Amino acid sequence: MEAQAAAQRIAWLSKEIERHNRLYYEQDMPEITDAEYDALFRELQGLEKEFPELALPDSPTGRVGGRPLAKFTQVRHSMPMLSLENAFTEQDMIDFDDRVKRFLGLAADTGISYVCEPKMDGVAVELVYREGVLAIGSTRGDGVVGEDVTRNLKTIKDVPLRLETQEPPELLTVRGEVYLPLAPFRKFNREREEAGEPPFANPRNAAAGSLRQLDSRITAKRPLSIFCYAPGELGGVEFTAQSHFLETIPTWRLPVNPLTRVVHGIQEMLAYYQEMMEKRDDLPYEIDGVVVKVDSFRMQRELGEKSRSPRWAIAWKFPPRQATTVVEQIFHSVGRTGVITPVAFLKPVNVSGVMVSRATLHNWEELERKDIREGDTVIVERAGDVIPAVVQVIMDQRPEGAVKPEVPATCPVCGGEVVRLPDEVAVRCVALNCPAQLLERVKHFASRRAMDIEGLGDKFIEQLLSLKLIKDVADIYSLKEEDFMQFERMGKKLAENLLNAIEASKERDLSRLIFALGIRHVGEHTAKLLAGAFGSIENLAKASEEELVSVREVGPQVATSIADFFRNEENLKVLERLKEAGVSPKVEEKRVGGRFTGKTFVFTGALEKFTRDEAKKMVELEGAHAAGSVSKKTDYVVAGADAGSKLEKARQLGVRVLTEEEFLELMQ
Ligand code: IVH
Repeated sequence: MEAQAAAQRIAWLSKEIERHNRLYYEQDMPEITDAEYDALFRELQGLEKEFPELALPDSPTGRVGGRPLAKFTQVRHSMPMLSLENAFTEQDMIDFDDRVKRFLGLAADTGISYVCEPKMDGVAVELVYREGVLAIGSTRGDGVVGEDVTRNLKTIKDVPLRLETQEPPELLTVRGEVYLPLAPFRKFNREREEAGEPPFANPRNAAAGSLRQLDSRITAKRPLSIFCYAPGELGGVEFTAQSHFLETIPTWRLPVNPLTRVVHGIQEMLAYYQEMMEKRDDLPYEIDGVVVKVDSFRMQRELGEKSRSPRWAIAWKFPPRQATTVVEQIFHSVGRTGVITPVAFLKPVNVSGVMVSRATLHNWEELERKDIREGDTVIVERAGDVIPAVVQVIMDQRPEGAVKPEVPATCPVCGGEVVRLPDEVAVRCVALNCPAQLLERVKHFASRRAMDIEGLGDKFIEQLLSLKLIKDVADIYSLKEEDFMQFERMGKKLAENLLNAIEASKERDLSRLIFALGIRHVGEHTAKLLAGAFGSIENLAKASEEELVSVREVGPQVATSIADFFRNEENLKVLERLKEAGVSPKVEEKRVGGRFTGKTFVFTGALEKFTRDEAKKMVELEGAHAAGSVSKKTDYVVAGADAGSKLEKARQLGVRVLTEEEFLELMQ
């Protein structure tokens, strides 16, 4: 390909891939299959390799992360990244306001303009844009020297690879906070616990761990976000005030926290702080205070800084969501995959507005490290997690004779064998028929995000199991009215509703069924990918580990877990019975009903009017299949210039050959 054509193609592919990324990640509405996406991606990678000088600096190939690094390179920040002084009380803030005025030589009753911002609990980073293109991204490090995490930052979809402006400044350095929103944080921790890995204590640690990955493909899988909050070194652009900076950069697509506000004087500052305290529990991310900054950059320069923090800003911290209480009992809870998690039953205590009576102890390693015992007085904290955690034992209040809890030798529910695998911190009950696991599996199967069997809640499931009316999820579909009538307080109408809800669940999408099976490491998102890739449970069950890892985002660990699930005889029997009961959903194939359903096309030679991938997409939309080689089953061969052996074979076999024009006519 000539350089000019390559440049055009590279530009088109880059744009198209970014568009598909948005459709896939933001709108959950992919227009193309994974294989088609991969083809576009590989074509772009190939061209960039062949013409490295033509690769765009903001190429989407930079977003997925490359091969792991041996270590990070160090980056010296052009200006030190300062830290903030902390304030804890209203008086601290009054003192701050007074200091600012005194330093500036202003009268004590002057109302200074301040910008108030939520204090994000994440990781500070610096992004450097040269001529509008992201050149380098780094962590704060010690404030003077940080680590080059450009490749990882490029995987964050909120980070623009290029500023959206016709006239970008020569140099724009912005600082901001990378954070992991609470929903993915919780999901991520659930998955880690299920997999027997230690969960992250708070979203900040999770964000830091995700950003400091030497393998940026791992970072790419974590839905990190960013809010920008301060300028660094600039060239060819000036801002007069923090508010001016915060108004300008979102127009270039750099995200700024929408809760940021300009206030005048101490009263408004206080009102902002209280408002954020109230909002705190409803925000989709964790904040640990508010940051108050003098708005005017002229004043900021005049105020300057002390050793490591500026005189013009302060962090007003929220009180920690902690309380002190007593561990009444340590209890073992058995999860869906048999993981036995220690849970502390607490003397109920109010932790900043929420009554807390249990805390997860996560796993035995953590329990041992913190040395938590029954009877201990402990500090509990709600740190961005729904379930509070025990932070620390107050040792001098330990009652005499408190004994170390022991790792259960047998399952506390079924009495079966318990194992602790060498690479896992989790303790697991491995009995397949353990009722605790079964209960959790059935609950998961019927839950709203899985098969959504309305009305079949925990209480009914518990009764079904204890009355031995079901012994696996497939049995749900053979339940009869008289089975339900054995329950306490059950009426005919309610039983009928339950049966209808069970019947209705047979119609659920394939992705829900895959999720409902509760395969380790297969969450809702992965289930959707698998449904799209395999189209039926039968195909998924037949898939080799190799085929499984070829699905976008499915790694070897997940592939092994899926393959193990379908190797298990018991599981296969349950699936067979689900199918017999009429639970066998298929993904609706877009192919059905197209004008060329079932037909096979082969494209060969140099095509001029469209690329091979475009042609492939055209025929697939009409229900046909594009194959790579010609056989008796081929219906049409579309031949461009210099078509060789495939054209010859088509002629030999008597397959219909079309020119590009004829093909376009056919597709009209
Ligand atoms: S301004 C000199 N604004 O808090 C200005 N920092 O405790 C320095 N942080 O290292 C930072 N939200 O990681 C600023 N809206 C915000 C912030 C914020 C969170 C973090 C940042 C900083 C730390 C200081």
